[in-house]
Amino acid sequence: MTKLRELYYCKHCKNLVEITAEGATALVCCGEDMELLEAKTADQGKEKHVPVVSEKDGGVFVKVGDVPHPMTEEHWINFIEVSTADTVVRKELAASDVPEGWFNVNPADVVNVRSYCNLHSLWQA
Ligand SMILES: [Fe+2]
Repeated sequence: MTKLRELYYCKHCKNLVEITAEGATALVCCGEDMELLEAKTADQGKEKHVPVVSEKDGGVFVKVGDVPHPMTEEHWINFIEVSTADTVVRKELAASDVPEGWFNVNPADVVNVRSYCNLHSLWQA
């Protein structure tokens, strides 16, 4: 059964779906079950993906990677997402953007921060 905020990926067409109403038995795309993404929490290798979270101006500032992640047409961070118990705020990024964002969310309320790389999938602080 799907759960709220899970992300499902289609390896054929790269469709990415976030669950906003849970309880479905399956998500199917291109004729196959979609893959439930498990966020990685520890970087390996030279490209960094784990969100680095700090408080700034009463909100939350997130940088992707302690060394900024590459942002090119072939390899970039698609989005950064900050969640509280009842809110999801997502900044969508283009390859020309800097892999960071400020979120108007009370730092004390944050329960999860995720980033998504087009090549290396889902990461979590
Ligand atoms: Fe990456």
